[in-house]
Amino acid sequence: MNREQAEQRIASLRQEIERHDHLYYVEASPEISDAAYDRLYRELQDLEAAWPELGSADSPTQRVGGQPLDQFESRPHAIPMQSLDNTYNPNELKAFDRRVRQSLQTDRIAYTVEPKIDGVSISLRYQNGRLTQALTRGNGIEGDDVTANVRTIRGLPLRLRTPRPPPVFEARGEIFIGKRSFLEFNQRREEQGEPRFANPRNAAAGSLKLLAPRLVAQRPLQALFYGCGEVAGLTVESQTSLFERLREFGLPIPEGAVRVENIEEALAAIDRLAERRSDYTYEIDGAVIKVDAWSARQRLGSTAKAPRWAIAYKYAAQRAVTRVETINVQVGRTGVLTPVAELSPTLLAGSTVSRATLHNFQELKRKDVRVGDRVEIEKAGDVIPAVVRVLAETRADDAPPFPAPTHCPSCGGEVHRLQEEVALRCLNPSCPAQIKERLRHFCSRSAMDIESIGEAMVELLTEHQFVVSPADLYWLKEKEWARLREFPGLGEKSVE
Ligand code: IVH
Repeated sequence: MNREQAEQRIASLRQEIERHDHLYYVEASPEISDAAYDRLYRELQDLEAAWPELGSADSPTQRVGGQPLDQFESRPHAIPMQSLDNTYNPNELKAFDRRVRQSLQTDRIAYTVEPKIDGVSISLRYQNGRLTQALTRGNGIEGDDVTANVRTIRGLPLRLRTPRPPPVFEARGEIFIGKRSFLEFNQRREEQGEPRFANPRNAAAGSLKLLAPRLVAQRPLQALFYGCGEVAGLTVESQTSLFERLREFGLPIPEGAVRVENIEEALAAIDRLAERRSDYTYEIDGAVIKVDAWSARQRLGSTAKAPRWAIAYKYAAQRAVTRVETINVQVGRTGVLTPVAELSPTLLAGSTVSRATLHNFQELKRKDVRVGDRVEIEKAGDVIPAVVRVLAETRADDAPPFPAPTHCPSCGGEVHRLQEEVALRCLNPSCPAQIKERLRHFCSRSAMDIESIGEAMVELLTEHQFVVSPADLYWLKEKEWARLREFPGLGEKSVE
């Protein structure tokens, strides 16, 4: 292969890989297998290694690069990043609409209604189509330069997907972690003895603030865009046309954004969004209503803090107050001890909640949760309910603090805290709780998916020591079958 051929192949591989990244991360409809993708990627890596002068900072192989930073540089926003006024009350939305129409001297005004994504706001600057800077909001006037971190998000184009990019295009939106990725991510952290994040927003914010891009690349960050900052060489006429541009450029936009002709339709759209809230794969904490036309926005202007052309309608916080009946200490399959508050059952966000995680003993101590306390609990979307705070004024004078355990509640062995870990662990591999949790995990849907071994069967098999390690499942002998069959409810079939 000569230089010219290498150059052509490199260009076509980059384009191909960018297209597959977009299909995978933005459209969620991949066309090729992971293995086929890896082959393309490796071919590009090999060619770039063989022809270093053909390297480029916006090659898909260069998402993760550079040294860890000491700190983030603060840089000014070309156009300040404002916040939004918000309300929990539909009547205030009508008042917003009256103000808008009065000030524009019109009785008809079209809005857009969009989901309000619960993440961290970001401004991406593309110059001649290339991603040159990513800033957090910071104080609105200047933000932290998190470019190296943002480049690792594979759902984001390093180059805008257009043959004729504008000289300057700043896309503004939200960085977040999806609900499911959040649960899996927290689970992994727990297994590694690291503290769990309280909610997806904190996890996204914490990830974006890591100083080593290599670590950020392992966090399941995503982004969606709904606004713009400085734009040159392109006119944006409305929110609706902005969404079209963003989409065309390969920048992901939130699902379910609609244009409506008046405030009544806007209220109906907000209701529909609220009904669909749990279908979203990411947390939304409300709806944002915006005047669609840019010309009208210019006439409306802003207050010191927020534009007059938009307002956020926030869903009421899903919180409830209940009583801590007791605090149990659970032992996970890797031996991590987790305090769990058993609660007087209470209705929250459409389901009955009778327990809430206290995450770890450091958290428990920080919030100072005691048995008998009245506590406020919160459920954010599909996330496991958590104790937000204690209503300490109602506490009995003699309620003792809950002590961190010194011994494992299951096997009685000493508990340890490994260096640099927050978690307390039982280190006994024969601990019955760990055996049970290991077997449960082994049979679970995300592992071997053994349908006939559910909660009750795991309990029975471990309790009576038919099984001590998952391997024992495959060694169960006929004489054990006979014993198993003696248990009520277990017929020949299920034993087999
Ligand atoms: S528009 C001038 N649209 O909510 C401000 N913001 O509470 C333009 N947010 O700072 C913001 N979803 O970080 C807008 N569809 C959406 C949004 C959204 C989430 C965030 C954004 C903003 C904050 C205000």
